[in-house]
Amino acid sequence: MRLSGKIALITGAARGIGKAIAERYLKEGAKVVIADLNQPGAQAVAAALGPNALGVKLDIADQTSIDAAIAQTVAKFGGLDILVNNAGLFDLAPIVEITRESYRRVYAVNVEGLLFMMQAGAKQMIAQGRGGKIINFASQAGRRGEALVAVYCSSKAAVISLTQSAGLDLIKHRINVNAIAPGVVDNEHWEHVDAMFAKYENLKPGEKKRIVAASVPFGRMARPDEIGGLATFLASEDADYIVAQTYNIDGGNWMS
Ligand SMILES: NC(=O)c1ccc[n+]([C@@H]2O[C@H](COP(=O)([O-])OP(=O)(O)OC[C@H]3O[C@@H](n4cnc5c(N)ncnc54)[C@H](O)[C@@H]3O)[C@@H](O)[C@H]2O)c1
Repeated sequence: MRLSGKIALITGAARGIGKAIAERYLKEGAKVVIADLNQPGAQAVAAALGPNALGVKLDIADQTSIDAAIAQTVAKFGGLDILVNNAGLFDLAPIVEITRESYRRVYAVNVEGLLFMMQAGAKQMIAQGRGGKIINFASQAGRRGEALVAVYCSSKAAVISLTQSAGLDLIKHRINVNAIAPGVVDNEHWEHVDAMFAKYENLKPGEKKRIVAASVPFGRMARPDEIGGLATFLASEDADYIVAQTYNIDGGNWMS
């Protein structure tokens, strides 16, 4: 029960890594807001998790929606102690095929949305005056480029940089901002990624996923629940002295 009495808002928690973190946080004693663009999905996850979970609609690309989700969190549970900025979008194309539409869509969520969600969470935490924890989702993709993945990789590099600047600015309010950089995590998201690589690399469905999994030093992709331990640690008092860092959790794919 390392998060006993804490109130957490997790963006993009209707499925995948965010959902797994919500399940773990509840087991650790937190009250959890499942906030997602997919409102029925968020509400279904919250209903399955019980009275300490609330499902809300959230579009992090929209400021009104961000403010409403924070307000709903405060109205339901009385405050905000932990923000997990997990919602993210992936796209892929060779440099000569990248469209402005794809660039804007990915950056509106992964960079602009994450920044203004972080700002709204921080404002709430500053007003409360009891500190807090913000955990941003970067990726191993933010550690280095990939030939077909320029937009997503650069958006996740921006998350690492935003985490550093926000971490340095907000620690005076006892708000710890840190990030998690997963490697490859097996979930619905990867079905979509696999299909996109198949198109550009002329692979059969499932082939990219198999190749990527086999190349992880650990020997396989991560399960979403395997990210929950690090997300719990960074949200707990054990991480009070950790500021502006990005932690890799990738089975050994990247060392930094
Ligand atoms: N799965 C991986 O291999 C992997 C690897 C590295 C990093 N990541 C990052 O981890 C995070 C979670 O990944 P995942 O695999 O669970 O993703 P996912 O695609 O399975 O889930 C993302 C969730 O975010 C929601 N979402 C999308 N746009 C939104 C918006 N504008 N506002 C609110 N919610 C929105 C979606 O509805 C979805 O429920 C993402 O930031 C992703 O980039 C994932």
